[in-house]
Amino acid sequence: MIELINSERDLARQKFEVLVPTLGALHAGHQSLITLGKTLSDSVLTTIFVNPLQFESKDDLAKYPKTLDHDLKLAEQAGATAVFAPTVEVVYPTQITKISAGAVGDLYEGASRAGHFAGVLTVVKRLFDLTKPKYAIFGEKDFQQLFLIKEMVQRLALPIEIVAAPIIREPDGLAMSSRNVRLTDADRESALIISTALQQSNLEEMHKVLATEPGFKLDYLAEIDEQNFGPVGSDTQYRRAIIAGWVNGVRLLDNKRMGSDA
Ligand code: PAF
Repeated sequence: MIELINSERDLARQKFEVLVPTLGALHAGHQSLITLGKTLSDSVLTTIFVNPLQFESKDDLAKYPKTLDHDLKLAEQAGATAVFAPTVEVVYPTQITKISAGAVGDLYEGASRAGHFAGVLTVVKRLFDLTKPKYAIFGEKDFQQLFLIKEMVQRLALPIEIVAAPIIREPDGLAMSSRNVRLTDADRESALIISTALQQSNLEEMHKVLATEPGFKLDYLAEIDEQNFGPVGSDTQYRRAIIAGWVNGVRLLDNKRMGSDA
C-alpha cells in the first residue's frame, strides 16, 4: 500500500524530487501527471488538499468530491511514491502571506472567480515550501493557472522547475476533470460542444459551433499569446484558444494551441 503522510514532521523525514499537487478526486488525467513525474525521478509525491482559499463559493467547496481511498489506489497505480494529504491546520497553521496573482490573475478565470488565483498561488507556494521539490507538474488544462504558477516561480526565483503536462481527454474528446462526475449523460453530450468548437480554425467558427448547443452557457472564449497571456500580436509565437462555460451549472474549461504548429 502506498505511504500516506499527514503531518509536516513525517513529510520532513523524506525528500521527494517531484511534486504533483492535486485537489483529490483523482482520474486518469492526474495519473498522467504522476506518470510524467516518474520519467523525471523515481521519487514522486502527490498531494491531496482541497484548498479552501481557491473556492470562492462555500457551495463549490462543499460539493468538491472527496474520494481519498480511491485516490490512494490511483496514485499508487500510476507509480507515486507517497501521498501527502494534510489538514487545513497543517497547510495554514498561522496567518499565511497571500500571494498576489497580479494583473493576469484578474482576467478570464480570475474575472469569474474573484480571488481564485491568489488562493491557488498561496497554496502552491506553501506546498513548495513544505515539500521542496526539484520539479512540480501541472496540467495544461488549467492553462491560466499553469501560466501564473510559472510566473510566480520566476518572480520569486524559486529553485523549482515547472513541468507542463498535456490535456488528457475522454475517448469522445471531453477534457478530463474531477467535475465531470457531476454531469448527467445528457450534460455530457452538451459538454462535447467544447472540444468540438476547439477543433475550428478561428474564434468566429468556434462561436458558431458553440451557438448550436443550448445546453452550454459560455463564460469566455478568447485567443491569447502563450508568452504573456495578452492579446495575440504580430510577434506572437504561440497562440492558444481558451474557453470556459457551464453545462447545467457545472463549470468546464478547455484550451488548445492554435496555428499550423499546434
Ligand atoms: O489544479 C489543481 O488541482 C489545484 O488548483 C492545485 C494546483 C492543486 C492547487 O490547489
